[in-house]
Amino acid sequence: MKNVLTVVGARPQFIKAAMISRQMRNSNRLKEIIVHTGQHYDANMSEVFFQELGIPQPDFHLGISGGGHGEMTGKMMCELEPLFSRVQPDLVLVYGDTNSTLAAALVACKLHIPVAHVEGGLRNHDLSIPEEVNRVVTDRVSRLVFYPTDRALENLLAEGFEGFGCRLVRTGDLMYDAALCFRPPAGRPAQSYVLLTLHRASNTEPESLPEIVSALNEIACEGKLIFPVHPRTRGALSRQGLTLHPNIEQLEPVGYLEMLSLLDGCEKVITDSGGLQKEAYAYGKTGLVLMEHTPWEELVEEQYLRTTAIKQTAILENWRKVSGLKPSGRLLYGDGNSARMVIQALEEFLSSSL
Ligand code: UD1
Ligand code: UDP
Repeated sequence: MKNVLTVVGARPQFIKAAMISRQMRNSNRLKEIIVHTGQHYDANMSEVFFQELGIPQPDFHLGISGGGHGEMTGKMMCELEPLFSRVQPDLVLVYGDTNSTLAAALVACKLHIPVAHVEGGLRNHDLSIPEEVNRVVTDRVSRLVFYPTDRALENLLAEGFEGFGCRLVRTGDLMYDAALCFRPPAGRPAQSYVLLTLHRASNTEPESLPEIVSALNEIACEGKLIFPVHPRTRGALSRQGLTLHPNIEQLEPVGYLEMLSLLDGCEKVITDSGGLQKEAYAYGKTGLVLMEHTPWEELVEEQYLRTTAIKQTAILENWRKVSGLKPSGRLLYGDGNSARMVIQALEEFLSSSL
């Protein structure tokens, strides 16, 4: 039996880890140890996902959140180093592009524990975005890079990954799998509201949030928006004294199943969430991405989504063009078997590295 230590901390990672965890429980060669860094801590940002998705309670909970990026990542590293040294896992498995991902990957690499990275090769080629730094560095220190698409592979090859001695494994995308696996029962007609999420750090700054809010308030004159508000955004709206149009229904963050139900029932999405972009595709929805460049570029090329500059006029102009999108219907993120492919690759890697 090989010990795989999974590190999670933020909402989208719980969803990805849930898919792997279910699959790993079927393996007689791998045993999972779960570490929660504590990056997300409110019950509706963390516990609800463990409950709804049947993720085992973490074996270790570090309780680290908040602070600057350096402070948060550094504190996590300080806790993870002795923990990894004590537990001595055969491999550390990390997901996506958060500070929890980076902290765990760096510590494991320095302790010579192999790192496997789920969602490798994603790039928006802008190192001013904190997630881009986390993606690039995590990929570079990983021995196994699970990438979702051809585009992600191209990114890795362009950075020379062929010569780095790591294994590159195409797996499709776990968020897509999860959206299919937990899809609400069919039969409800789509309703006329737009599902909105907004949390990217750059979109909540005083230079961008007023632009976004003023565009959203204009869009809301035409109909209803439903907006589960991320705590970062709630804080920023209040600090900046911004008011949303009454047609924008604000909710506390919702659990994953309610989110999928809101997505299933909506007409369109407006979002800066990486996860919601792929879920929109999974449910055949079109929409607007509140980002100038998305790392999920194929969703723009295949006409599911439009991107936009973060200026009121550009947002409105691009929003009007969303109704002209004609999604290609092509399979972009695999066939719903990503978790099985990850587990198979982990088993092969760990048996060959004996
Ligand atoms: C983080 C990730 C981002 C991911 C997002 C998923 C990094 C750099 N960013 O961004 O890639 O898309 O998670 O949602 O790792 N807060 C609460 N309660 C919580 C969690 C957060 O109140 O349970 C508030 C705190 O004020 C906190 C702020 O939200 O300081 C931001 O949280 P943080 O984890 O730093 O960044 P996210 O914006 O959530
Ligand atoms: N999500 C959720 N409840 C919410 C908002 C989002 O369950 O109130 C889900 C969403 O459907 C997606 C995941 O959380 O699966 C994405 O999280 P987030 O947008 O915070 O992060 P990102 O994917 O951008 O890193």
